[in-house]
Amino acid sequence: MAITGKNVVVTGATGGIGSAIARALDAAGCRLLLTGRSAAKLTTLASGLQGRDHVTLAADLTSRAGVEQLGAAAAQFSASALVNCLGVNQLSALDDTNYSDVDQIIATNLTAPINVCSTLLPLLQSREKATIINVGSILGSIGYAGSTVYCASKFGLRGFTEALRRELADSKVKVVYFAPRATNTELNSDRARQMNQELGNAVDSPEWVAQQLVSALEVDKSLNRYLGWPERFFVGLNGLLPSVVDSALFRQLATIKRYYRVGQPLDISNRRAS
Ligand SMILES: NC(=O)c1ccc[n+]([C@@H]2O[C@H](COP(=O)([O-])OP(=O)(O)OC[C@H]3O[C@@H](n4cnc5c(N)ncnc54)[C@H](OP(=O)(O)O)[C@@H]3O)[C@@H](O)[C@H]2O)c1
Repeated sequence: MAITGKNVVVTGATGGIGSAIARALDAAGCRLLLTGRSAAKLTTLASGLQGRDHVTLAADLTSRAGVEQLGAAAAQFSASALVNCLGVNQLSALDDTNYSDVDQIIATNLTAPINVCSTLLPLLQSREKATIINVGSILGSIGYAGSTVYCASKFGLRGFTEALRRELADSKVKVVYFAPRATNTELNSDRARQMNQELGNAVDSPEWVAQQLVSALEVDKSLNRYLGWPERFFVGLNGLLPSVVDSALFRQLATIKRYYRVGQPLDISNRRAS
């Protein structure tokens, strides 16, 4: 399906993957409502796009006020697609993860996209055709040491997206769960990047991930899209034979533990919207 002229809301638009998605959708002729927390980053992003009628909104989507602001802006913008791409991450042992880090990860990666979906749903249901794409992760299907809370948030988002897809199966709203593997963005700390390198984990470019998302939007049907091989294979294997994946990942555990952040602020605490 041609997506030219489609009005798309992108959350997390100031991030590595979100800004690549914004550029790819702009190039495909979509009109965009771009949102993130940083007004400065939104202005820079929008000024680099070809389309001149994109809209930006700086809002913290972990707050009720932020989600309501987005709902009002999306109604005025006549949105017909939503790409939920906000997220935070950390690499740490669970016993080195404090309550506020847990709250922030769950609020950003799970509660915020749920609230954004429910707030925009009446609008999307009123459209001739509409699509919701929730950006999860391969770690939304495979539990990974050092990423316990992130995995919990992304497993939750995958379950929410699957249930929503089934709830909307008799409607005109398509629901897509889109799961990248490791991608080269600031979401990953230097420590996480070094760990991926040592483990030989493939790392995709945000531009390639964005192209895959555009093609998922073009398909115009509900689906799950997992990016990368052998990650896709391991998602299936983990569902069928988790103990085999336990053994494979146990061989990585000592290496992963060397990269846990100990006695320092967690990655997400160092990141500030500017
Ligand atoms: N990078 C990877 O390796 C990878 C792999 C698999 C899945 N993913 C998923 O892909 C998505 C995008 O990740 P990324 O790599 O592009 O991350 P990123 O570069 O760190 O960008 C994160 C985005 O989330 C926004 N955000 C964070 N907290 C927010 C809040 N409270 N309210 C509103 N917006 C908020 C940030 O906005 P500001 O910058 O304006 O604050 C930014 O736009 C995430 O869901 C992530 O879990 C990433």
